Amino acid sequence: MELEVSNLTKEYHKGIKALDSFSFTFTEGIYGLLGPNGAGKSTLMNLLSDNLEADSGEILFDGRGIKELGKEYRRVLGYMPQQQGLYPGFTLERFLYYMAALKGLDKKKAGEQIPKLMKLVNLQEAAGKKLGAFSGGMKQRALIAQALLGEPQIIILDEPTAGLDPKERIRIRNLISEISFHRIVIIATHVVPDIEFIAKEVILLKNGVMEACEAPAALCAEMTGKVFEVCCQETEWENVCENRVVSNLTKQGNQVCVRLLSEEKPDFPDVREAAPSLEDVYLYYFDEEAAYGAVVSGI
Ligand SMILES: Nc1ncnc2c1ncn2[C@@H]1O[C@H](COP(=O)(O)OP(=O)(O)OP(=O)(O)O)[C@@H](O)[C@H]1O
Ligand SMILES: [Mg+2]
Repeated sequence: MELEVSNLTKEYHKGIKALDSFSFTFTEGIYGLLGPNGAGKSTLMNLLSDNLEADSGEILFDGRGIKELGKEYRRVLGYMPQQQGLYPGFTLERFLYYMAALKGLDKKKAGEQIPKLMKLVNLQEAAGKKLGAFSGGMKQRALIAQALLGEPQIIILDEPTAGLDPKERIRIRNLISEISFHRIVIIATHVVPDIEFIAKEVILLKNGVMEACEAPAALCAEMTGKVFEVCCQETEWENVCENRVVSNLTKQGNQVCVRLLSEEKPDFPDVREAAPSLEDVYLYYFDEEAAYGAVVSGI
């Protein structure tokens, strides 16, 4: 199974490319899409789910254009949009039956799948409740459930865990991992730990351009020797942080411990190299402007 994207470009306003010549081939497994606000993640997802027209480029599913496939493509696709456009007057159950009908699922299949999906997202108790009365996290879960209708081969989830409490987030992360076998799953998120351990590859997107794409472990390995922890006196920490990208700052007793990114080992007495995490990778690629000097002088 292959979803092949070539030279996909989208401009909403002339001269500003929300997505710029994006090319990539997705195969079975989970892909994490990371990037700051406005990077083009949702634009890419809207294009992949055929909800938006590209200016140029093409998307092929197993060698055939998704436009040509039309309904056939929609049948293998599950898409959870970022915006919570739900019908407030619908009960959860009615909403899922409605979405199943739109997807072309027959009543029997819908009847089999819907109760299971409600259970999967932990909403079985809310089957008869109106969506308008759902909390933000419940709406997210309802949207995840509809994306899984029809046992799709391609699942596109735009910030699936936004607004979920930690317990639900972990549950949904495990669920995504479980359903990913023999499927293409693409997840956009700002919650880096959500994909750190489940993604086969992470795509870093900035200004509509792919900056990197590798396995999380490989991205972290590239940062070896660039992440340090410095422990210093309270009076020293601003010096330590100055002009550096700081990924964490904690007070431990009388000391302040700073986790920072640096091309060279910082020249402080109590400094040690740390194992890079995907969050460090994110900061390295996207937060050069957040070097601490800039943050402090901006206060
Ligand atoms: N419907 C639209 N009309 C005009 N411009 C748009 C539209 N949708 C997105 N854009 C612009 O395209 C760029 C990419 O937006 P997109 O929503 O794809 O980013 P994103 O990575 O999903 O961001 P976020 O993390 O905030 O969800 C941004 O500059 C945004 O302002
Ligand atoms: Mg988005």
